[in-house]
Amino acid sequence: MEIPKVAFFPLFLALSFLAGEAFPAKNPFQPGIVMPTEKGPDDDEVGTRWAVLVAGSKGYGNYRHQADVCHAYQLLKKGGLKEENIVVFMFDDIANSELNPRPGTIINHPQGDDLYAGVPKDYTGENVTAENLYAVIMGDKAAVKGGSGKVVASKPNDRIFLYYSDHGGPGVLGMPNMPFLYAMDFIEVLKKKHATGTYKEMVIYVEACESGSIFEGIMPKDLNIYVTTASNAQESSFGTYCPGMDPPPPPEYITCLGDLYSVAWMEDSETHNLKRETVNQQYKAVKSRTSNGNTFAAGSHVMEYGSHGIKPEKLYLYQGFDPASVNLPPPPNDGLSRMDVVNQRDAELLFLWHMYKRSENRSTKKAAILEEIRKTVTYRNHLDGSIELVGTLLFGPKNGPDVLNKVREAGSPLVDDWQCLKPMVRAFEGKCGSLTQYGMKHMRAFANICNSGISEATMEEASGVACAGYAAGNSSPVTVGFSA
Ligand SMILES: *[C@@H]1O[C@H](CO)[C@@H](O)[C@H](O)[C@H]1NC(C)=O
Ligand SMILES: *[C@@H]1O[C@H](CO)[C@@H](O)[C@H](O)[C@H]1NC(C)=O
Repeated sequence: MEIPKVAFFPLFLALSFLAGEAFPAKNPFQPGIVMPTEKGPDDDEVGTRWAVLVAGSKGYGNYRHQADVCHAYQLLKKGGLKEENIVVFMFDDIANSELNPRPGTIINHPQGDDLYAGVPKDYTGENVTAENLYAVIMGDKAAVKGGSGKVVASKPNDRIFLYYSDHGGPGVLGMPNMPFLYAMDFIEVLKKKHATGTYKEMVIYVEACESGSIFEGIMPKDLNIYVTTASNAQESSFGTYCPGMDPPPPPEYITCLGDLYSVAWMEDSETHNLKRETVNQQYKAVKSRTSNGNTFAAGSHVMEYGSHGIKPEKLYLYQGFDPASVNLPPPPNDGLSRMDVVNQRDAELLFLWHMYKRSENRSTKKAAILEEIRKTVTYRNHLDGSIELVGTLLFGPKNGPDVLNKVREAGSPLVDDWQCLKPMVRAFEGKCGSLTQYGMKHMRAFANICNSGISEATMEEASGVACAGYAAGNSSPVTVGFSA
């Protein structure tokens, strides 16, 4: 393996945040060939195609998640899905951010065009919540709070495509407004949706760190829902098209433009005829590309869950069909392109670092960014240290780390009692401060504390002791970048 390109960032090296997370590679992007329009014979085979697109983050440092979702919207729209059938969740603080070098636009590829124009603002800002997502999936207009009120009003013959991109942690997916999406709550919504008999089949794609843990051991196989995730239950997913990497974004960008699994499926869809490519062929192509050509040097294991019977179906049933793609080469793509990538959790610091480098020497802004980096790193260390100490208090210095970090065997759920998980997190947060987007990585520790039969009261006590020196407000949690 070549020397990691990011190794020249002295700050990060010193903090050992980015070591070994990236390596150089070739640009895999091939623009699609536009061919004359042609209508397929089987356009009327299906009911309505619905889609739900969710960017779970906010802040310019998380540019890539909303870029992924805008890209997905444009792809589905080109495929013939109607705007009224695509529900979009995105915080919407990117296109008009003062940090955006191309105001009013969002791109998802270094040479990419604007993807923001035309994206419907169904659920933005405060209205991007897990509760609204559940209501939208259920088609329950009355339960939606705020937003456009658009829901998946699907019928028994309809197909649904759900795509989510953000940070995650064991058992949770991020949302720009608290609380997180908890795995079991989400699975319960899928079960309820299935019980209403209001769809034929569903395909779900999830990009997030530890995204496999949302489904591992708990996703039923009989809901007519097929799922793939960017990573398994215990690894990061990766941002790509990041500054200083290969391929880089245009020089004026200081943030990653996309995520590896996400651009893998979308660039695959855009370069194939989706009436010929199957769900399974895309799974394989994306799996290969997301693992960086099966090296896993920097990349993750794409996983699949749920109803495998859906895999032989053609992709156009979910993503539609762009007539211009009719003569595109047959699938599968070799998926062997290698890309520079950055661990999703380090992308935040990478962004701050590039912002720091760009600012004028000795300017007040530069000092402010340095302070932001300092607070971010201090708070991360506070969270890591507190959880480690809680483990020591509960299980002893020798066993603490082993208990907290224990990874269950593949196929087992993260936690036996999902009802235990939320109160356990609350007990900790009450004494030690918000877990934040970064702290989601510690969800496995909370799950293992639950699995060890520790009570909420004991957890609260241990957290109180571990964080006795932590005064709320004194070391306030830092949100990414300078957003809201
Ligand atoms: C949330 O939804 C309500 C109701 O549609 C709307 O008035 C409000 O502006 C929305 N908030 C944001 C930030 O979009
Ligand atoms: C800041 O100072 C360094 C070292 O003196 C110099 O190389 C760099 O060009 C300066 N950057 C700006 C933005 O002025």
